[in-house]
Amino acid sequence: MTDVARQAARRRTFAVISHPDAGKSTMTEALALHASAITQAGAVHGKAGRRGVTSDWMEMERARGISITSAALRFEYRDHVFNLVDTPGHADFSEDTYRVLAAVDCAVMLIDAAKGMEPQTMKLFEVCRHRRIPVITFVNKWDRPGREALELLDEITERTGLRPTPVTWPIGPGGAFHGVVDRAAGDKVIRYTRTPGGATKAQETELTHEQAAAEFGDDWTRARDESDLLGAIGADHDQKEFESHQSTPVLFGAAITNFGIGRLLNAMVDLAPAPSPREDVSGGARPLESPFSGLVFKVQANMDPAHRDRIAFVRVCSGRFERGMVLTHAATGRPFATKYAQAMFGQERATVDEAFPGDVVGLVNATALRPGDTLFEGPAVTYPPIPSFAPEHFAVARVRNAGKSKQFRRGIDQLDGEGVIQVLRSDLRGDQAPVLAAVGPMQFEVVQHRMATEFGAEISLDRLDYSLARRTDAASAEHLVRQRGAEVLARSHDGALLAVFSDRWRMRSLQSDHPNLVLEPLIADTTDTGASRA
Ligand code: G4P
Repeated sequence: MTDVARQAARRRTFAVISHPDAGKSTMTEALALHASAITQAGAVHGKAGRRGVTSDWMEMERARGISITSAALRFEYRDHVFNLVDTPGHADFSEDTYRVLAAVDCAVMLIDAAKGMEPQTMKLFEVCRHRRIPVITFVNKWDRPGREALELLDEITERTGLRPTPVTWPIGPGGAFHGVVDRAAGDKVIRYTRTPGGATKAQETELTHEQAAAEFGDDWTRARDESDLLGAIGADHDQKEFESHQSTPVLFGAAITNFGIGRLLNAMVDLAPAPSPREDVSGGARPLESPFSGLVFKVQANMDPAHRDRIAFVRVCSGRFERGMVLTHAATGRPFATKYAQAMFGQERATVDEAFPGDVVGLVNATALRPGDTLFEGPAVTYPPIPSFAPEHFAVARVRNAGKSKQFRRGIDQLDGEGVIQVLRSDLRGDQAPVLAAVGPMQFEVVQHRMATEFGAEISLDRLDYSLARRTDAASAEHLVRQRGAEVLARSHDGALLAVFSDRWRMRSLQSDHPNLVLEPLIADTTDTGASRA
């Protein structure tokens, strides 16, 4: 095995997907602390360390209690390197989530034991299905009264179509959580004991079945019977099925008391796939040992007011990344210097000298890079672009103070480049009044906020009465000019022509008047299961 192959095999690059409040932040922190608590024996993480894990850079995120920006968190466990890529928590940023999930090899689906599958969990799950990302399920908050474990398994099957294969099984109902049967480890019984204040690991004790019977009484009998039943109905883990998105290993725990976190990390090491060769636009796959290549999945500017710069997050797809290497930007053919490469740990930044497949590198001053771009060294490669979603909300942006038009233009271009919002233009509307197109309306708030605080250009937004976009061509555009309830706009970043309509009926009636109109669907929001690519 080459060094690159060996390093790749040690990587686990994943995201935690969940409905807001299911415990994603608590889980993220618990994973990172559990892992580093083991690798840095004796290290105590104080309050400052804990804060470093959160990725709430923006004032607005704090104010609204949502996470918009995403970064990657890296930690080590059992000689493996984990890259946990953060996904935005709110449905309005599902396009961003889609891009972020382009960078991972596995997802942990976090379910609140009392609430089961919630809408945003489903939505994110659909993205994973679409991208064929294997999913490990973690039922959280078992320290509180919730649903029956078997009932939750039924819900997972019904809602996702995946066969749940419990890796651990809880002893005690929600609210009386004694421990788990580790089904993946020959039905080992683990008792969890809460460790008081600030501890990063729950105390775990292995018990014999006799000890479990004596200590937990009926709760043990029930757990054992249920676990046996699962075995009898064949709910055991099958690696092939898991990797081909037909089954999901399930674990039970409580992130807040660190119960089950170690088991989850073990499942990630033992079951989650390591990076594998990524398919390029030609349909071939670049071997991991090939020279460096990477995919830009996120661009973010001004994350930290102390460093006003633009960072592109790149997932390494093949080869070894070495800081200082000069790469080629596949979209332009231009060289790209990587002198300033960084790893992120929430707000903390550290220089990265070397990275391997699965790792996430932050490239500073990446003005030319957009999400979906490929960087490579040696033989050329281009990975498939990450498709844009079909926007459903439209608004005309104008600068409030005409003296700030330069800042306005710079800001809009910047936010367009980051993919915060889609920017559409037309000759009729002119450059001073671009149309902003969003998947969710909260994207507008982010733009308004960032334009004012980062670029000093306050903007007004006038909502347009459109709700639907289709890709079209120049010939069709001629038919659509000056039609009521429709308009053709050009997407700024790639010039694609989008026809926008007030509603489906308007679009259909225009289609029946002009049967030759080209109107191709863009990738739809993932709740719309008829999704197809742009
Ligand atoms: P999110 O990022 O998915 O939105 O969830 P977050 O971690 O912020 O957790 C949401 C709430 O659920 C928090 O409570 C958190 O403490 C709680 N929580 C997370 N994991 C567990 C768990 O395993 N068991 C229990 N009982 N609660 C859990 P909060 O009251 O909203 O905030 P806080 O004051 O506790 O921080």
